[in-house]
Amino acid sequence: MQKIEIQILLFTFLLVKTAQGCFFDEDCSLNGVCSPVDQTCICDPGWKSDDCGELDLLPATRWTGYNYTNVTLSDQYSTKGNSSWGGSIIHDRHDKQLFHLFVDQFAHGCGLSGWRPFSTVIRAESRTGPAGPYHFVQEIFGTFRHNAATVWSPADEKYLLYTIGVETDTPDTCKSYKWANNISISSAPEVQGPWTPFEYLINGTNPSPWPLWEEENPTSKVLLAVEDNFIFSASDFSSPYNQIKSMPWNTSDYSNHWTEDPFLWRDKRSNWHILCHWMIDITERGEKYPRVGGHMFSRSLTGKWTFKLQEVYNTTVHFSDGGRTDYYRRERPRLFLSDDGDFTPLYLINGVQEFNSSASYTLIQPIGRGSGSLGIAQL
Ligand SMILES: *[C@@H]1O[C@H](CO)[C@@H](O)[C@H](O)[C@H]1NC(C)=O
Ligand SMILES: *[C@@H]1O[C@H](CO)[C@@H](O)[C@H](O)[C@H]1NC(C)=O
Ligand SMILES: *[C@@H]1O[C@H](CO)[C@@H](O)[C@H](O)[C@H]1NC(C)=O
Ligand SMILES: *[C@@H]1O[C@H](CO)[C@@H](O)[C@H](O)[C@H]1NC(C)=O
Ligand SMILES: *[C@@H]1O[C@H](CO)[C@@H](O)[C@H](O)[C@H]1NC(C)=O
Ligand SMILES: *[C@@H]1O[C@H](CO)[C@@H](O)[C@H](O)[C@H]1NC(C)=O
Ligand SMILES: *[C@@H]1O[C@H](CO)[C@@H](O)[C@H](O)[C@H]1NC(C)=O
Ligand SMILES: *[C@@H]1O[C@H](CO)[C@@H](O)[C@H](O)[C@H]1NC(C)=O
Repeated sequence: MQKIEIQILLFTFLLVKTAQGCFFDEDCSLNGVCSPVDQTCICDPGWKSDDCGELDLLPATRWTGYNYTNVTLSDQYSTKGNSSWGGSIIHDRHDKQLFHLFVDQFAHGCGLSGWRPFSTVIRAESRTGPAGPYHFVQEIFGTFRHNAATVWSPADEKYLLYTIGVETDTPDTCKSYKWANNISISSAPEVQGPWTPFEYLINGTNPSPWPLWEEENPTSKVLLAVEDNFIFSASDFSSPYNQIKSMPWNTSDYSNHWTEDPFLWRDKRSNWHILCHWMIDITERGEKYPRVGGHMFSRSLTGKWTFKLQEVYNTTVHFSDGGRTDYYRRERPRLFLSDDGDFTPLYLINGVQEFNSSASYTLIQPIGRGSGSLGIAQL
C-alpha cells in the first residue's frame, strides 16, 4: 500500500472511532465488547449507553427494599424509625424462594447522623423476590457494628461477614462518636448463625470481599477492597491481609477522583470492576447530589485500572407507579449478581436519604433484563 493510502485509512479509522465509539473492550468500560464490524459497543445485560458505562436501571417499586423509617418504638430517642443504610442480598442456599438482606440499622430511632455508635447489623427476609420488601428477623450484632458485607465462601462452606465496629453501650441521646475504623470478620455455616466472635483484620473502612473460589480453581484465597479502592489479598479469610493494589490517581478527599464505599466484583470474562460512591458534587459544589455512582475497571487486579469521571447512575429513581424521587443522598452501592456464572448485575442496593428528611433507608432497584430472568422477580 502507498503511504498516502495508509494515511487515508488511518484517518478514516480515527473518524469512525470518533463518530461511533470503540477500538477496544476498554472503550466499552469492560461491561461489554467492542464489535469489530462497526466499532460499536455491545453491552452485557445490565449495562447501557455508547460506552456501556451506565447501569440499565429499571423502575423501583415503592415500599420494597428495607424502609421502616415510619416505625415508632418505645425505646426510641428520636423519630427516624428503623433507619438503615444499605446492605447485602443473599439468596438462601436451601430455600430458593427465600432472600436475606444483611442491613446496617440504627438503634433507638437514631438516624445516620448517630451511626457511630448506634449502628447494628440485622438480618431481614423476603419471600417476594430479591427486591423485597424485606422484614426484620434478627439483630445479628448490636452497637457498634457497621458496613455489613456478607458473602458465601464456597471454599470454607461458610458465610463471611465483614464489618467495622467495636462492642459498646450507647449513650441515652442520639449523638455521634469518633472511633478508629477497624475491619473485622465473623463467619457462620448458615445465614441464621451461629456467628463467631469478630477477628480484627485491617485498619480501614468500607470492606468489600470477593472470594476467589471457582469450580476450576477451588482456592480459599479472598480479596478485600476497602476505602480509597485499596485492594488486599489473603490466603484464606482469617489469614493476614496484604495490600496488593492502590489506584494510580489522586484519591484525596475533595479531589475529582474522591470516592468511598467500593463494591468489588469479577465479571464472566474475568475482568475486575468496582462500583463506588463518587463524591464529585461535594468537590465541585459542596452538595451530596446528583452525581453519585462511579465505576472503575481493569483486566487485571494489579494492572492498569480506568476510572472515567462520569456517572454510572445518579440520585434520580423512577418508580413503577410512574413517580420519581430525586434523593438527597444515595450511597453504599452494592450489586446482587446472578449466580449462573455470568455475574449479571440484577439489583442495585443503596443507602438513601430523601430531601428534608433525616431518616434513611435501604433502596433496592432492579437492573436490566437479567432481573426478570431468574423467574424470581415475579414471585
Ligand atoms: C420510605 O418511607 C417513608 C416513610 O417513612 C416514605 O415517605 C417514603 O416514600 C418511602 N420510600 C419508598 C421508596 O418506599
Ligand atoms: C410503614 O411502612 C410499611 C412498609 O415498609 C408499610 O407497610 C406500612 O403501611 C407503613 N405504615 C404507615 C403507618 O405508614
Ligand atoms: C425495628 O427494629 C427493631 C430492632 O431494633 C425490631 O425489633 C423491630 O421489629 C423493627 N421493626 C420493623 C418494623 O422492622
Ligand atoms: C482497633 O484495633 C486495634 C488493634 O486491634 C485495637 O487496639 C483497637 O482497640 C481497636 N479499636 C476499635 C475502635 O475497635
Ligand atoms: C489507621 O489508619 C488511619 C489512617 O487511615 C491512621 O490515622 C491511624 O493512625 C491508623 N491507626 C492505627 C492503629 O494504625
Ligand atoms: C490531590 O487532590 C487534592 C485535593 O484536590 C489536592 O489538594 C492535592 O494537591 C492533589 N495531589 C496531587 C498529587 O495531585
Ligand atoms: C439523572 O440523570 C438523568 C439522565 O440519565 C436525568 O434525566 C436526571 O435529571 C438526572 N437527575 C438529576 C437529579 O440531575
Ligand atoms: C425542602 O424544604 C425547603 C423548605 O424548608 C423547600 O424549599 C424545598 O423545596 C424542600 N425540598 C424538597 C425536595 O422537598
